[in-house]
Amino acid sequence: MISPNGHGVAFPPDFLWGAATAAYQIEGGATEGGRTPSIWDTFSRTPGKVTGGHTGDVACDHYHRAPDDVKLMAELGLKSYRFSLAWPRIQPDGSGRLNSEGLDFYRRLVDDLLEHGIEPWVTLYHWDLPQALEDAGGWPVRDTAGRFAEYAELAHGALGDRVRYWTTLNEPWCSAFLGYGSGAHAPGRSDGADALRAAHHLMLGHGLAVQAMRAARPDDQLGITLNLYAISPQTDSPGDADAARRIDGLANRFFLDPVLRGQYPADVLRDLAEVSDFGHVRDGDLAVISTPLSVLGINYYSRYVVAAPDGGAPESYWRAPSNWPGSEGVRFVTRGAPVTDMNWEIDAPGLVEVLERVHREYPALPLYVTENGSAFVDTVVDGEVDDPDRLAYFDSHLRACHEAISAGVPLRGYFAWSLMDNFEWAWGYSKRFGMVYVDYESQLRIPKSSAKWYAGVIRQNGLGRSGQERPQRAQ
Ligand code: FCB
Repeated sequence: MISPNGHGVAFPPDFLWGAATAAYQIEGGATEGGRTPSIWDTFSRTPGKVTGGHTGDVACDHYHRAPDDVKLMAELGLKSYRFSLAWPRIQPDGSGRLNSEGLDFYRRLVDDLLEHGIEPWVTLYHWDLPQALEDAGGWPVRDTAGRFAEYAELAHGALGDRVRYWTTLNEPWCSAFLGYGSGAHAPGRSDGADALRAAHHLMLGHGLAVQAMRAARPDDQLGITLNLYAISPQTDSPGDADAARRIDGLANRFFLDPVLRGQYPADVLRDLAEVSDFGHVRDGDLAVISTPLSVLGINYYSRYVVAAPDGGAPESYWRAPSNWPGSEGVRFVTRGAPVTDMNWEIDAPGLVEVLERVHREYPALPLYVTENGSAFVDTVVDGEVDDPDRLAYFDSHLRACHEAISAGVPLRGYFAWSLMDNFEWAWGYSKRFGMVYVDYESQLRIPKSSAKWYAGVIRQNGLGRSGQERPQRAQ
């Protein structure tokens, strides 16, 4: 059981408290310093793909405001900041020499973070493939894995003396299944077999990158970030149980098993037999993909409750099962639990489940929650933003983290998604996930009540009993 709200919980002394962002979602400066278009620039400029026709051209203008944003992080007391490098900013053609002007931006950012005592945590790929590489075939093409490994090695070489934590990929499930399967994300292609090829080449690129970085600096903390879900069948009927197995296979095990065990899950390969014969998997690939890691990053947002097929329509792009290869017809059930502005059900116990499951079923690794958070509609009143629902979401999920630690899970840190409101992919700026509010007109940043509360949590290294630490509405 999660301790009831109002109960104090203390975290381990060296727990890494952070917040996360991603390059395309915050930087802007889309054409500056030699940056070329990524698949998200192209996609967001394609009519009908992103809510409101929004693009990341300006976003939070972090490219010009990074020093002030770092000051804000320091004021919040963050111990670590997880951000991503824009591949097309530092290697505009997707191969060959790095662009020093693009690199300088990240060098300054890293220096500034270190000067403020904030540990930089770099994600190499958070979905912004250089358009040049998509034009050459994108992730369904094997060569892209090699391109990624080259980019990773060069970027690591350029920043590795100051950055200890490196994540290769953020959520390859989204890159592959939403980018090439449902088409809801860039590059917006929908071909099941391509999605599976993309997934494989993403993981291959990850493995090659880990090998290159490990060889260069053996002591670095290297990992990948997977988006994992708690999954339950709606009833205990065999049909619902099979739906849960299938979705768990596609969403969780399809990535966990190759990366941590060096094999694809056999039942999922059977489910996908009509989509692909997996002829793109070559001898030796899985050994590369399962190159040992130092850490595993987990992004957790929600639970899927699923049921046997009845032909019902999916409810949101996120859950576009008809377009995930292998999940045809599975029903995603809404239980009527409280939801966020993304319509994602709030389920903190699911986080305990995911953390314990990964620790129990896979080789033991230090785990980090590299993203967790919620979108809610925010309003500025007298220059302040009160966000009790977001605060309660963080509170309940941090209690879940604590419960997992108490049960023996080696969870070493937590990154709130997100530091500030930003470009929420296909939803543009219509969804706010930030602890810090961004007024996109003026670029003013306003720490919401959840940010002030989080600063208190970090200061105390835990959750207090009452007062400011007590959320107004608990889940
Ligand atoms: C995750 C992404 C992140 C953000 C959150 C809400 O899937 O990694 O960029 O969009 O969802």
